[in-house]
Amino acid sequence: MSQAEDHDSTRRDFLYFATGGTAAVAAGAAVWPLINQMNPSADVQALSSIRVDVSGVEVGTQLTVKYLGKPVFIRRRTEQEIAEGRAVPLSDLIDQSSENPNKPNTDAADQNRTMDEAGEWLVMIGVCTHLGCVPIGNNSGDFDGWFCPCHGSHYDTAGRIRKGPAPQNLHIPVAEFVDDVTIKLG
Ligand code: FES
Repeated sequence: MSQAEDHDSTRRDFLYFATGGTAAVAAGAAVWPLINQMNPSADVQALSSIRVDVSGVEVGTQLTVKYLGKPVFIRRRTEQEIAEGRAVPLSDLIDQSSENPNKPNTDAADQNRTMDEAGEWLVMIGVCTHLGCVPIGNNSGDFDGWFCPCHGSHYDTAGRIRKGPAPQNLHIPVAEFVDDVTIKLG
């Protein structure tokens, strides 16, 4: 990185911190425009569906696909990850919403975040809800889930924000299993 670039990024970080909460979230949304799930336009809807073969995803691994210009994490959770996610009392959670359009108006209980009853499949938009970085997975951070190194946000095994500046759980895209091994996004 050149000195000029280095200086630029330092300055940008400074501006984010200086502007504070609401403005900072707006800046993040500009980096990764979040899907407007309430009111998608017809042309966006027509282009917004992809099918992902998950037959090769082993337990304890994550497949990342690009969807609408953003990374989507498809994780097949281990028994331990499921147990950890389910053991967390709701009162410990910063964001009490499931952030799951497939189960609207539900709370952030582990069961409301996953695709299946058993809780094995967790599908999330891989964009930190603070300023839009892509969190690191594979049991990262203090809660065995995902960690965003940009400003230190820790997400648990259900992708729920537990510590750090991010205000919301990792968002879940519209998704469904269309057969045993295929997930349709959108
Ligand atoms: Fe700031 Fe993730 S973008 S913590």
